[in-house]
Amino acid sequence: MENSDIQDYDKMNWLYNALYGDISTEQLQHLDRIEMHKELLQSFGNKEISILDSACGNGVQATALALNGYHVTATDISGEMIKLAREFSEKHNVELKTSVNSWLELPDLFQSQFDIVFNIGNSIVHSLHSTTRECDISALIQVLKKEGTLVIETRNWEKVIAENKKFTVYDKVSYLNKSYIPMYHWILNGLENEAKVEILLQEIWENNHVELYESTLNFTPFSHKMLLDTMKKLGLTITKDTHDKGCDWYMIYGKKI
Ligand SMILES: C[S@@+](CC[C@H](N)C(=O)[O-])C[C@H]1O[C@@H](n2cnc3c(N)ncnc32)[C@H](O)[C@@H]1O
Repeated sequence: MENSDIQDYDKMNWLYNALYGDISTEQLQHLDRIEMHKELLQSFGNKEISILDSACGNGVQATALALNGYHVTATDISGEMIKLAREFSEKHNVELKTSVNSWLELPDLFQSQFDIVFNIGNSIVHSLHSTTRECDISALIQVLKKEGTLVIETRNWEKVIAENKKFTVYDKVSYLNKSYIPMYHWILNGLENEAKVEILLQEIWENNHVELYESTLNFTPFSHKMLLDTMKKLGLTITKDTHDKGCDWYMIYGKKI
């Protein structure tokens, strides 16, 4: 990830507040994105496991895991995201260990410490080349304990590219008496080439006045095979792979044997 991208995530608190500002503690406890990993979480037999959310964003998943009784460390390259994650966890009365770190910095801090490392919500796509992607994934594996599992969740980039959509408009959400409509403008160049998305958020006030927020993120799409092969090449045993040509998202679990 380059400095310009760090600044872009640093400028995106408006989007995260609009998307998650109104979620209740109870909704968080049953967050879909945690429920879908229930089997993996329960496979350890108790909650005394250590979990890293390595791209925690505003801390939604990390806070949800902590609300379910897990010990969670939340890291992110963006200082602004970590600030939001601290505020979000405090608002929901749970404690997170947080720090501002890139994936490459993690092995020096947390060598072989975690039972589960999450890299979810389409984060690894911010590794801008296949070689940096491999180094980033290798760093995430180094912080896993033996028998630990790395979870990578990503958009299905082959599907996104095949559809060649220029825009995605999301459902309206409400927060603090205002409504928000997020819209993504995709500028894609095929697999393994740098691409960008312009994120536009329309903020609609009660008197119908509209404010527009915008930000641009760079990323490099990759194929399912490329991600799977990289995880295998780095020594992981694949224990789950939800990839389906027709689905927008998938996740892969790789176990460090
Ligand atoms: C699409 S957001 C996902 C955030 C969160 N997981 C979610 O699902 O809402 C991607 C996150 O990855 C972080 N990120 C990108 N590159 C990173 C890197 N090299 N090291 C650590 N975090 C990184 C960004 O700052 C951002 O918070």
